[in-house]
Amino acid sequence: GSSTEQKLEFPIPAGVYAERVISVKHYTDRLFSFRITRPRSFRFRSGEFVMIGLSNAEKPIFRAYSIASPAWDEELEFFSIKVPDGPLTQHLQKIQPGDIVLMRQKATGTLVHDALLPGKRLYMISTGTGIAPFASLVRDPETYEKFEEVILTHTCREVAELKYGEELIEATRNDPLIGELTEGRLKYFASTTREPSQHMGRITTLIENGYLFKVLGTEPFNREVDRVMICGSMAMIKDVKALVEKAGLKEGSNSEPADFVVERAFVG
Ligand code: A2P
Repeated sequence: GSSTEQKLEFPIPAGVYAERVISVKHYTDRLFSFRITRPRSFRFRSGEFVMIGLSNAEKPIFRAYSIASPAWDEELEFFSIKVPDGPLTQHLQKIQPGDIVLMRQKATGTLVHDALLPGKRLYMISTGTGIAPFASLVRDPETYEKFEEVILTHTCREVAELKYGEELIEATRNDPLIGELTEGRLKYFASTTREPSQHMGRITTLIENGYLFKVLGTEPFNREVDRVMICGSMAMIKDVKALVEKAGLKEGSNSEPADFVVERAFVG
């Protein structure tokens, strides 16, 4: 490697991959994304998460991160918050290309196709960094084999925080591999809550008052045709879950697939 590459001060723990940072992109003072090399033997299902850490201590701190890249990608992408005093992110936000990132070898999670029964329309509802697992799923051909219509919603406090999702949708629609699959079938809805933009309000409000469905040209949640994946803060998950349950949808898991699944987005 080049002379700028980080030297490891501590041994790599058992069952952990040590991968190189390929690129880092900062979106706001609270958000950044990064890409790392993918171990040859590493397998995962789009939508799953892994434990990520840094080699800056004898016993590294690991945190759950949804893999934002699709299962077919040669690299692994992550979308992260920056917390000034966050045990991991205060250091992780400073990574540079060539640095080492640690990753536990097992991927897991419930935001996967295996946990949902077949349906017609897939809603992926996210706030903040909760968009990460859906960044993987919207780029996975299986998503378009399983559903006629794929809807991604992303709600953030401010307009600048929507940038990652906007770039994702643009890149997905223009992708030589899956762009064609998404034609007329991938819908994106973004809203902000603390700064003016085209659509404003919490996703819960916009579901309850019907605004979301009106803009998308769809009907309110219907168990016969709709499947829902939810990812965001604990409070957001609880509130969105209550709304889909009110519409009669049942929560699924890997062992018992059903109509909707939830996962908490990484926080600090
Ligand atoms: P708000 O600005 O009204 O708090 P955060 O960065 O705190 O995770 O928030 C990300 C987005 O999720 C914000 O737009 C925030 O709206 C929204 N949000 C926070 N809590 C909830 C909730 N319980 N239900 C729906 N949306 C929520």
